[in-house]
Amino acid sequence: MCGIVGYVGTRPAVDVLIRGLRRLEYRGYDSAGVAFFRGSRLEIRKAEGKLENVEKLLNSNLSSHGEATCGIGHTRWATHGKPTTQNAHPHQTGHVVLVHNGIIENYQEIKREIVAKGFHPKSETDSELFGFLVLQEMDRGANLTEAVRRSFAHVQGACSVVVMSEREPGVVVGVRNGSPLVAARDPLGGAILASDAQPLIEYTREVIFLEQGDMAVASRDGLRFFSLESGRELQRETATLDWSLEKLDKQGFAHYMLKEIHEQPTALVDTLNGLLDRVRTDPFPLAEQPGVKLLDSAREILIVACGTSWHAAQIGKYWIERWARVPVSVDLASEFRYRSPVVGPGTVVIGISQSGETADTLAVIRQMKEQRIPTLAVTNVRGSTLSREADAVFYTSAGPEIGVAATKTFTAQLFVLLLLSGYLSLRRGADSRAEIPAFFEQLVKVPHILADCLGSEAMTATRKAAAELVTSKGFFFIGRGYSFPVALEGALKLKEIAYIHAEGYAAGELKHGPIAMIDEGMTVVVLAPQDAWRDKTVSNLEEVKARGARIVGIGAASDSSLASLCHHWIPLPSITQGLDESLLPFLLTPILQLFSYEIATIKGTDVDKPRNLAKSVTVE
Ligand code: F6R
Repeated sequence: MCGIVGYVGTRPAVDVLIRGLRRLEYRGYDSAGVAFFRGSRLEIRKAEGKLENVEKLLNSNLSSHGEATCGIGHTRWATHGKPTTQNAHPHQTGHVVLVHNGIIENYQEIKREIVAKGFHPKSETDSELFGFLVLQEMDRGANLTEAVRRSFAHVQGACSVVVMSEREPGVVVGVRNGSPLVAARDPLGGAILASDAQPLIEYTREVIFLEQGDMAVASRDGLRFFSLESGRELQRETATLDWSLEKLDKQGFAHYMLKEIHEQPTALVDTLNGLLDRVRTDPFPLAEQPGVKLLDSAREILIVACGTSWHAAQIGKYWIERWARVPVSVDLASEFRYRSPVVGPGTVVIGISQSGETADTLAVIRQMKEQRIPTLAVTNVRGSTLSREADAVFYTSAGPEIGVAATKTFTAQLFVLLLLSGYLSLRRGADSRAEIPAFFEQLVKVPHILADCLGSEAMTATRKAAAELVTSKGFFFIGRGYSFPVALEGALKLKEIAYIHAEGYAAGELKHGPIAMIDEGMTVVVLAPQDAWRDKTVSNLEEVKARGARIVGIGAASDSSLASLCHHWIPLPSITQGLDESLLPFLLTPILQLFSYEIATIKGTDVDKPRNLAKSVTVE
């Protein structure tokens, strides 16, 4: 979603803004812009498309921005109005300039009032309208901070804004009213604000995550916080970030996505170390934390999530029910929140979200809290809204994920869910508990096995199959048991980064309709590792083969009968033999990630920033 950066201090502001916006590019955007003070006048440069277009405008007249030490910048992901230069941010209304992230829900009402007063918005956006509100309040005598505060009283919807005015050069006012905003004091004087912490890391690790309803006022003298509701000054705690700049760079990989696929072993090790008390020698020694107490109290578990996180939840359901015998239901957050769900007593709700900012998932957590249902978060972002609003958090420690398509955060989410399953099995005295010590021994080896897998023949075979199938007119990914949600995730990856139609299906469901689509132009990717479902999956595969589809098989290296049915064979490395079937999703997933990555790079798509997508989906 939209990215915001605001800066005031001693450094060249436009440089800080552009570098900051670059770090937010991963969120997805379709136009960009900056505004900066030239003396006491504000100037704007904005353009459709990539940030480079704004840089071209800036470079064509260096003298205009070279001296500026205060400004705001924005990358826009269009919601209201097309992605044109006119609709790009910043928006100027008289002496007021602003950038905005989120949605003003009552924008039509505000627009009617503004037009009735004789104002003429220049864009189709909801964002621009906020500037008129601020302008009116300043004309009534309010200073910029107070005018922004009063204007917010007219606005409905979750959003954040950052505003400047020519009447107060060198002041940047930011408000968080839904969409996240993070602030930091610049050690050289002044302050920086942004939609997430990544633009700040270059200058400091000490950051402040604004709370809902906080205003931050930045000037050369530093940073102050006020309540949006009362206007009273607030004290806000600083958090120390543990992300390094080095971790944000591509480190020689062609794309962030490829780097992040290869970072999965480390992401799993870090997640394990973050959640377990490694001094203890018993299996699944979850470190003491509030989330553990909540889990202990669960009679049932409901997991809500969107997209890839929802796929992780589906696998989590299979695991928790298999290992711990605790009933689990899984819901898409966007569906759950608008129906009339029945959530029984004793239910604990888990919201899974790598970003911790997904609007629908957050909304469910809020609804549940209103009903006094205990809530848990699984997220990768410390300080994210989800992490702060849920009653307790289990963090994935995958490090920053820049590629829009989730990879390492997905496998890290899976790891958390599997750790919780094993813990609950022991805690509940489930029948499976006798198997748990041996299972735990295997589980701690998964990062190493995954690392081996990433360097194995499986990856060479995956690349080869991808290269030969790039022209396929469509793909089915099929599997049963744990492999079914992995198949859903494989299809999603291909759609989002390669823009090819793909569907994930439970292998047993193919004959209930979709098999009608199978012909020579289609490819079926079948996940049939050595598990309880392998034989059934293989018999479904025969039905597909008889209808002429190209077949890519992924299974145990020793499975020659499966290999003989496939046009392309991807053998899991022999190190995976004998592994508990619960662990196989960790080895199947990277193969499918790489498969999509290869097809996308051959097609030449923008792998790290696929069209129309955003990394953190803060609108419904
Ligand atoms: C796909 C992808 C999305 C997200 C979804 C939820 O690669 O990244 O489907 O999984 O938008 O996002 P989070 O996990 O941040 O709630």
